[in-house]
Amino acid sequence: MTRSSIDLSPKTIEFLIENNYKETEALKACREETQNHPRANYQIAHEQGAFMAFMTRLNDSRIAVEIGVFTGYSSLVTMNSMVKNAGPNAHLFALDMSGEYLEIAQKYWAMANFDKYITPMKGDAIQSLEKLLEMGYAGRVDQVFIDADKANYPIYYEYAYKLLRKAGLLLVDNMFLSGRAIEPKEDDKQGLAINELAKTALNDKRFEICLTSVGDGILMAKKI
Ligand SMILES: C[S@@+](CC[C@H](N)C(=O)[O-])C[C@H]1O[C@@H](n2cnc3c(N)ncnc32)[C@H](O)[C@@H]1O
Repeated sequence: MTRSSIDLSPKTIEFLIENNYKETEALKACREETQNHPRANYQIAHEQGAFMAFMTRLNDSRIAVEIGVFTGYSSLVTMNSMVKNAGPNAHLFALDMSGEYLEIAQKYWAMANFDKYITPMKGDAIQSLEKLLEMGYAGRVDQVFIDADKANYPIYYEYAYKLLRKAGLLLVDNMFLSGRAIEPKEDDKQGLAINELAKTALNDKRFEICLTSVGDGILMAKKI
């Protein structure tokens, strides 16, 4: 029994990694290349990947949207589970404004033979989300993962609501923003946006939610 969550020591994280999924060749190669990237801290942690992979299986996700791809680690995690769920019918729309990052991700999608199941959408995420609505995806998406520019999270949250099917799953990363979202300073747009999103989601009758302490805080929301 414990009355509050424990801090994760390096040993605890090691235990989590050892006792969760083993990385595929593509996941391992993607993580190893990204370790040397100047923005290496953008990538989700191994143990967060295990959590997301399981949620994707639990939700039986077949069509997903990822907002913020970077070098591709979380997209590979999602695809690994979606291919188990739906085989060749799995599809991921991978949104990122950086062509340079998407090019790196594409290398690992090809390594995992996922390239034909993933549509990269380069450009500002709001425009890509509008495009998905125009393409007729409103109410048809099983899962949305938000992991991009934090100040726009409240906007992405509304798009996620429109795109998700009933009982679809929304995962929102960085809900703690390394502590900045907990008591945001007046001039911290990102911290304020996430703090506000946590409150909005809690009172939003359109979703059932759970705020977890996995990684940097993940909001899970199920569309009612
Ligand atoms: C934290 S990283 C994503 C990490 C990724 N999910 C992973 O696990 O490796 C955030 C990404 O969002 C992208 N991004 C930031 N602002 C964006 C915007 N307005 N539209 C589209 N992509 C954006 C960045 O280029 C970056 O690749």
